[in-house]
Amino acid sequence: MITTVSSIVLVTQNKVNMTLLKVKRSAMNLGFIAFLISSFSLSVNAADVAAGKAKAEALCNACHGPNGNSQIPDIPSLAGMPPLSISNTLFYYREGNRKNPIMTPIAANLTNAEMKDVAAYYSSQKREVTYNTKPENIEAGAKLAQQYNCTQCHGPNLLGVQHIPRVAGQNHDYLLTQLKGFKAMTRADMDGNMSSAVSAIKLEDLVLISDYAAGMKSQ
Ligand code: HEC
Ligand code: HEC
Repeated sequence: MITTVSSIVLVTQNKVNMTLLKVKRSAMNLGFIAFLISSFSLSVNAADVAAGKAKAEALCNACHGPNGNSQIPDIPSLAGMPPLSISNTLFYYREGNRKNPIMTPIAANLTNAEMKDVAAYYSSQKREVTYNTKPENIEAGAKLAQQYNCTQCHGPNLLGVQHIPRVAGQNHDYLLTQLKGFKAMTRADMDGNMSSAVSAIKLEDLVLISDYAAGMKSQ
């Protein structure tokens, strides 16, 4: 049974000062908290970038592209994403919180340690951005990203922060599909933030923001 009561969980570790995490209380989240705590135990359980690279090259890059720079419009790039956003997402696929016919079975075969290894590898790779935003959308997109607080959570250059994914230089089609999915509440949304962020935005502005973010070459 899942209750909707929210709780505040404080996770502290030596190198990570303090992370305030708002989670919904459920059986899954107990596992998730354990996962987070183990993510922060860097000194004990450092992610192995070389092992992550080997795994990614064998199992992931055929779809996610060379070094995690996807060449396929509806498959996301992973290069340069915050590591926690990758490992958390893999955890969500494995536990069934985010469902996808391709990624769910792939994540089911990964251990927590393997998730952290591939996350460390992809986050260390440079994002290659070839997409060009329509000139008329550059200023308008920046304005919308401010107005709707995208920059507040995803960072001033939309590069992502901790568990919040990078959207700068992400594939346009993938971005637009996700934003439409959040608005329709069909895309998994760990804390409900994204669905509320886009609920008041009209479709044409979601198209504009996707065009803007996809072309952002910030590193
Ligand atoms: C057969 C193609 C394919 C393979 C192989 C594959 N992926 Fe994916 N991956 C996808 C697709 C398609 C999505 C988008 C799914 C969705 O919409 O939820 C995705 C999404 C993801 C996401 C979510 C990214 C985001 O921005 O939210 C992560 C993380 C990820 N994959 C990691 C991996 C890792 C790690 C591997 C290898 C162990 C892997 N993938 C192998 C196709 C693939
Ligand atoms: C209150 C914080 C917050 C705000 C405001 C916010 N986001 Fe997000 N965003 C998140 C979080 C957290 C996630 C991860 C959700 C998940 O995977 O469950 C996310 C996910 C996304 C994704 C999916 C990325 C991927 O790789 O799958 C996109 C696209 C996105 N946000 C774009 C935007 C845009 C555009 C705006 C402004 C209109 C915005 N966000 C505003 C917190 C926020």
